[in-house]
Order: sequence, then C-alpha cells, then structure tokens
Amino acid sequence: MSPTQIYEELMAKIGRYTPEAELHIKAQLAYEINQLKETRNAVILGHNYMEPALFHSVPDITGDSLYLSRQAAATDKDIIVFCGVRFMAETAKILNPHKTVLIPALPAGCSLAASITAEDVRQLKAQFPGVPVVTYVNTYADVKAESDICCTSGNAHAVVESLGTDTIIFLPDEYLAANVAQETGKHIIFPTKNGHTQYDTTLDYQMVGWNGRCEVHEKFTVADIEAIRHDHPDVLILAHPECSPEVVAASDYSGSTTGLIRVVEQTDAPEYLLLTECSMGDNIAAANPQKNMLRLCSVRCPHMNQIQLKDTRDALLYTQHVVEVPEPIRARAYRAVERMLQIG
Ligand code: 13P
Ligand code: SF4
Repeated sequence: MSPTQIYEELMAKIGRYTPEAELHIKAQLAYEINQLKETRNAVILGHNYMEPALFHSVPDITGDSLYLSRQAAATDKDIIVFCGVRFMAETAKILNPHKTVLIPALPAGCSLAASITAEDVRQLKAQFPGVPVVTYVNTYADVKAESDICCTSGNAHAVVESLGTDTIIFLPDEYLAANVAQETGKHIIFPTKNGHTQYDTTLDYQMVGWNGRCEVHEKFTVADIEAIRHDHPDVLILAHPECSPEVVAASDYSGSTTGLIRVVEQTDAPEYLLLTECSMGDNIAAANPQKNMLRLCSVRCPHMNQIQLKDTRDALLYTQHVVEVPEPIRARAYRAVERMLQIG
C-alpha cells in the first residue's frame, strides 16, 4: 500500500478523532515500517492497547497477551518487533531464543511487573513449601523462572483449575487474584503492605496473593459504574479482570482485552462501556462504527503509550532495542510459559 492508500484507510477508520496533518505523518511512517518489515523479514505483533494509528496500520497480528504469546511461538520470521510492553517482548524472547526480538521503546514497563522480584517469590516458596506458584505473564523473566506456570487474563481460571491442588500462590496482581479466587470458590489472603509479612502457615489458605496492581485499572470505581447506569440504564459494562473485584461484580462481563472486543462484536446492546485502557476503546470504536460506545476514559497506560510509529520505524531501521534474557533464566521461564500454552 502507498502512503496515500494508508492515509485514506486510517482516515476512514480514525479520522473522526485524529487531526488530518497527524494522519499524513503517521501514514508516511507506517509506509516506511511496512517496507522495512519486508526487507528485514520481520513480523510485528501489536497489543490491543496500541494507539489507534499504529494499531490499524502496521501490526501483522493484533491481540491480547495470550494470543500474541501463541503467535510469537509460531512465527518463522527472523525478527519479532513487539509493539507492547517489555514483559510481552520478553515472553516472545523466552519462546524464541534464536530470533531477534525488538521492543521499540525501552521505558515501556508495567506497574504489575515492577511490583514483584524473583527474591520475593523465593521467600514465598520458602514460607509455603510445595505450594505451586502461578504468575501472571505481566512479570519479568526472572520472576517467571521461579514459577511453576504462567497465566494471562484470558486463561487464569483454567490455569488455576488445571493444577488440581487445594492451595496455590498467585502473583502479583491483587485484583486478578481476588477475581479468580471468587470464580473458583477459593479463599485468598494477601501480604501486609509493609513488605515483611508473617504468614500463619498452619491455616488452610487456598490462595496466597501479592499486592501488585495495574495503575490503569485500579482507577475505575463502583461509583463510576453507578453514575453511568443512572444515566444509561441499558448500557452493557465490560471490565478487564485487573479491575477491583467490586468493579468486576458491578459490571456485566469481565475478560481479557480480546474477550472484551469479542463481546462488543458479538452482542447487540444499545450502548457499551469499556473499563480498560483508553486506546483500546478508540480501537474498538474504529472497528465497530455502528456500535454506540460510551467513554469514561482518560486512562492511558503510560507504558503502552511509549510505543509510537516513529519508534517502531527506528526499531527496524537500527535493530533496536534488542531484548535479551540470560539463558539459565530463559530456560526456567520457558517451562512456566510453555506449560501455560499447553492449556487450551
Ligand atoms: P490482556 O492479556 O487481556 O491483553 O491484558 C494485558 C494487560 O496488560 C492488561 O492491562
Ligand atoms: Fe501493565 Fe496496566 Fe499498562 Fe497493562 S495497562 S501494561 S497491566 S500498567
């Protein structure tokens, strides 16, 4: 596609809320990226939270973290450019040690991944010997390496059920853990906030959590939902499970980013409200112009927002920033990720 064709396509999809001059610049960058992708034999994976112009122009594959992990495992390209945050690019590297994995912007972190260290996990394992450790993929490779199995928001319930044990350690998202505990009928405890938790290991805890939170999803409140329902009684409210259990309970559906997209595509509600990152709301609105999307959102993930078209072009042009995971850590993290991928 020429820059003009890309511009026209972007204009049709997101022209309503993007200035024309900005779209011209972005269409030119997208054109350069698509050329470079061919010459470098690269694949671009784009998370659902990518900004609309990028999301609708350059990724070969878009999706939630589970789907993108599966696609990263299956690619035959030489280079994987991960338009998402660092833990996602690391997961791609864990699955593809011999490929070049690039992340377009180094500061693309995640408040959940930053909330826990490998040493924290080792201490929990010492306190609860023999209890299996499930870690959310929103963690860094050294934390995954200490885990028995990973999960995403799309399969957390299935992963917990697959273990068949009475008790599990589920890290690091406090809210996801509480939502999964609710779904699976388990009781959950959390460490105290001072970081020096004394557990009474004689008690029959069924799930041990951690105090990590997503800095985006923790902002949504039940009061927000009540206010919207008051003015829009027929609205269908969809929440990501990184929202608090109270917010999830007050919503109509909870699921991974792709789960939320599917509900919008496959149902016919008069109005929809998404309680998740803002760009995804824009992306869904662009893909479903006939649906009435309410906006309660100025909550952009500052980490996902680091990834822009110019960075993505430069990643391919200068082979930057190369994601590396030391082999001993990668090999152990691989077991936890691969075990997750085996679950349907
Ligand atoms: P998904 O796995 O649902 O795509 O979510 C990833 C994420 O970081 C949500 O904040
Ligand atoms: Fe992490 Fe939250 Fe951003 Fe997702 S939205 S990458 S969980 S900070």
